[in-house]
Amino acid sequence: MIKIPKEIVLNYSDLSIYLKTLQGNYTLYKNKNKILTIERILEDKIPDQIYVPSNDIQLSTGKLELEKYQISQIHQQLNENLMKNIDSHDVEKVNQALVEHMQFTLSDPRTGNLNEIPKTLELLVNQKELLHELGKLTHKDYTTSVHSVDVMALAMSYGIQKKLSIYEIQRLGVAGLLHDIGKKDIPNEILTAPRRLTSDEMDMIKKHPSYEFKILTKIGCDDDFILRAALEHHMKIDGSGYPKMGLKNISEIGQLIGIIDMYEALTAFRPYKDGFSRIRALNIIYSDVKNNKIDKKLFETFANSIVDR
Ligand SMILES: [Fe+2]
Repeated sequence: MIKIPKEIVLNYSDLSIYLKTLQGNYTLYKNKNKILTIERILEDKIPDQIYVPSNDIQLSTGKLELEKYQISQIHQQLNENLMKNIDSHDVEKVNQALVEHMQFTLSDPRTGNLNEIPKTLELLVNQKELLHELGKLTHKDYTTSVHSVDVMALAMSYGIQKKLSIYEIQRLGVAGLLHDIGKKDIPNEILTAPRRLTSDEMDMIKKHPSYEFKILTKIGCDDDFILRAALEHHMKIDGSGYPKMGLKNISEIGQLIGIIDMYEALTAFRPYKDGFSRIRALNIIYSDVKNNKIDKKLFETFANSIVDR
């Protein structure tokens, strides 16, 4: 038996619905032959605890609605936890809450999950100082979730520095959070290997932007901004980088997420290296600017967004 939230009971109107007695047994509330109409719901005061046999659910058209509802409930809880930490101005805990959120999202990036992300970022959009502090945190462990949350904070700080609208700042955050979503299909032993990767392993890693594009389009994402951030963040404007598509007019968001991605990787701790200082990391990226691989203006605006004010 699966407990059904009252709010979505109409999606199960063609199934048998049960109630749970005080003794813990199930008793029939409505037979599957009797269709539950909106009128009946309004008159009848549906009980709080209603159940549907799990086998029936497998065949039900409402299954997706139930999953979406459950996903949004989990996100709601995660958001409440995040809000609590934002209120207490605890940067480390805000980071942990966001990472937890990302772990859940990455574990199953379906539409229901990804649709919840903008709501989470709404909580952060006006937190200028907090985002700045989040972008400065360094971590001892590497996971795609940790990295993605860092990139998100840096991207949103950039949007604030450029005085973009709340909507645009939010979108930058989403692009940052999802830019490496394809890495969920690459074994963790490779992502965290404390050694030089073999060329086969490198080839595998280089597939993640294409995986990203596939995952995002498969779940119906048609936002060019998000898709190009995912696909292009390892491409350079001189045609180098990957995936090799011979493109030179890489989108601004693709380039920006690429710069932030490099910066985060350089400043972060890895099992095999310490994190570089911010200045050293910026200097390393600047050598790509000098070699015409990265747009100078974009780099300068990003650099301004991370220096202490
Ligand atoms: Fe990447």
